[in-house]
Amino acid sequence: MKLASEERSAPADRAPTLDLQRFLTREQHRIHLVGVAGSGMSGLAALLIELGHAVSGSDKVTSTETERLQQLGLRFHEQHRPEHAEAADLVVFSSAIKGGNPILVSGRDWGKPVARRAEALAAIMRAKRGIVIAGMHGKTTTSAMTAHVLREGGLHPSHYVGAEISLLGTNAHWDWRGEYFVAEGDESDGTLRCFHPEHALILNIEEEHLDFYANLAAIEKVFGQLIDQSSGTVFYNVDDPNTARLCAKRKSAVSYGFSQNAHYCGINVELRDFGSVFCVYRRGQKLGQATLNVPGEHNVHNALGVVALASELGIPFEKIAASLRKFEHARRRFEIKYESDSFLLVDDYAHHPTEIRATLKTARATGRKRVLAMFQPHRYSRTKALRSEFGCAFDEADRIVVTDVYPASEPPIPGISGQTIVGEMVKHGHRGASYQPRFERVHCDIGNALDVGDLVLSLGAGNIHEQLSILAADLVIAEKLKAIVGEEGDVRLYEPLSKHTTLRVGGPAQFWVEPRTEKTFSDLIRFCRDEDLPLFAMGRGSNLLVRDGGIRGVVVHPCGGDFDKIEVNGSEITAGAGVKLREVAYAARAANLGGLEWMEGIPGVVGGALRMNAGAMGAQTFESVTRIRYLDAEGNPHAKDRDELEVFYRRFPLLENNFAISATFCAQPAERAEIDCRLRESQAKRRTTQPVAKSAGCIFKNPDSIPAGQLVDELGLKNSRVGNARVSEVHGNFIVNDGGATAAEMLQLIDKIQSAARAKRGIELETEVEIVGEQE
Ligand code: EPU
Repeated sequence: MKLASEERSAPADRAPTLDLQRFLTREQHRIHLVGVAGSGMSGLAALLIELGHAVSGSDKVTSTETERLQQLGLRFHEQHRPEHAEAADLVVFSSAIKGGNPILVSGRDWGKPVARRAEALAAIMRAKRGIVIAGMHGKTTTSAMTAHVLREGGLHPSHYVGAEISLLGTNAHWDWRGEYFVAEGDESDGTLRCFHPEHALILNIEEEHLDFYANLAAIEKVFGQLIDQSSGTVFYNVDDPNTARLCAKRKSAVSYGFSQNAHYCGINVELRDFGSVFCVYRRGQKLGQATLNVPGEHNVHNALGVVALASELGIPFEKIAASLRKFEHARRRFEIKYESDSFLLVDDYAHHPTEIRATLKTARATGRKRVLAMFQPHRYSRTKALRSEFGCAFDEADRIVVTDVYPASEPPIPGISGQTIVGEMVKHGHRGASYQPRFERVHCDIGNALDVGDLVLSLGAGNIHEQLSILAADLVIAEKLKAIVGEEGDVRLYEPLSKHTTLRVGGPAQFWVEPRTEKTFSDLIRFCRDEDLPLFAMGRGSNLLVRDGGIRGVVVHPCGGDFDKIEVNGSEITAGAGVKLREVAYAARAANLGGLEWMEGIPGVVGGALRMNAGAMGAQTFESVTRIRYLDAEGNPHAKDRDELEVFYRRFPLLENNFAISATFCAQPAERAEIDCRLRESQAKRRTTQPVAKSAGCIFKNPDSIPAGQLVDELGLKNSRVGNARVSEVHGNFIVNDGGATAAEMLQLIDKIQSAARAKRGIELETEVEIVGEQE
């Protein structure tokens, strides 16, 4: 048979003419589907199997649908091979398949009949009384709703819809018992004109798919043809001007909508959190009230179309209303992914400005405090054509993160990216829009901005829902962590660790937890152990280099409460793990205690200083420690005296698997003047020998033979750099962040110094700074 020559893929001109309807619905053949994993193609495969054909299919990806179909008899191939055409009596291909596909090429060579998906579907439908649901927005929901209402009305319809609908069981089904066939018509590639249904339901018509259509007139031409080819009634949305203009003049047309002159009119619409209630009038006569358990005004509209159609087919209103009450959503249509007292996460397929506005309006109507959205534009061509419409589609979102374009088999268009839409939003005056070119970071941007009472939406027709699913899974844990730390403590998702390290680099912490009490800290340790979650304790991050991929699991930052306490008792000072070392030095000064002045020069907190036995001015932490308290890996508290502890230069192994709570330092009574003199000495040394720029202190441990700083200096590496990471000109053992440096740059520079020390001086430089986290 011949393909419609003006359409996208190359025609199979040598193929014989074929009565496709007879071939597909009254005979049984071997049929191969190219691109069988697509949502439309898998539905077609299901129908063909039910019609008794021997069906094979190929696709470079698998899906849950292909797995299900294999159990029903589909022979699935993960590669497109020419021999698949040879073994088939008919090849059917998806619009996403290019003309050069090996199966299509060999099909042509073999003279095999080749048909596009819509042609095959249209032919199957002609064996029944066809009902095509068409329009730019809402057709999957509406066709599913129609099939459901007709099914409940006892009509045994066959159906074909573009997504998995749990209520219907499958996305397509051939029911030998019934007369009707309900199909979602895809307008994106002009194939609507293949259909010759009995009835059509037209939802809305506007500019879309401008990669295929020149303009609105071209779109209307295709819809016009569908309308002309419908032998029975055309049901149409009278509130949509383009649809009304096209359909109203037709003789056998039935209108629906909110406007008073609609044949089927909806009034007194009351929108609820996740549904609506409304009254339906037919030609001025009240039919009754309907309840819909899918949200949004746009779905009331869709339901009115279904009421009109089902009523005209003779189903009593009470039956229709009862079916509507039971109707559930298609996947990815305002699909709730997570719900708790504090948060609501919803995924929606919206990818056109009109759909986005409708979904955001629905989200806003739930009455949550804020609406945050992650949006993945779908197709470069749509992004380009509708850029300014996108710019004003997000007014109802408080915060919106836009990622890059999901290409859907399109090549990139230079200059078109997620930034295009953000630029338009900013121009339009939106204050909460940002661009995140790294797809895998979108959930972090939204998750880190989350606050109690927020609704989060993922929007788009690509794979943005995956980012929402990650957020949903992490939120389950975050809420448990919050329950542990209570109102006092703080839990944040994806906290950027660059905010918490003195070097100002580092990716996000999956869970950032700030406990305030020892008891909370210990509960947290137990929780992490039970849930198998890694737990990493972090103080001021002054001696830490966190990789750009961040830290998986819980990063605990004990601060405030028990951890900020500082007590002086005679010549002993006990300080919590969160107390800054310089505060210990000044508390000692206030009590006229000396010997701890060197601590003023260390930017860390007690917990961190203990963990690495930090030091300065020739002194080190454990020279002054008399006792420490810590929690073990089971969350149990312990106290140990100095003589029970094994300590090394810049290393204290006990805290590699345990968690510091507090330390007691011993000082000596001293004259205030003497203390001040030593403090000034330390300050002066710091000011003159160390950089003020952002750093992690000394990067390398001092080797026995030479101070690391002097070695780097002698190697002539001062001021050498990788990106924005640079060896300080003040001190060779400091790497400074000149602004926006990455951990990868820091690590490359460290590596460069180590290689030079090894090659030129035979010295192994060991890092003093602790390097943690995941690579990107
Ligand atoms: N030096 C150079 N060139 C340089 C840097 C240093 O020739 O670019 C020479 C100095 O002139 C000096 C020697 O190297 O003769 C040692 O330098 P410095 O006195 O600055 O001490 P350091 O050993 O480099 C140690 C600690 C610092 C602490 C200072 C001050 C280590 C690895 N570092 O540095 O601690 O602040 O003493 O007491 O032990 C830290 O641990 O993060 C840290 C900054």
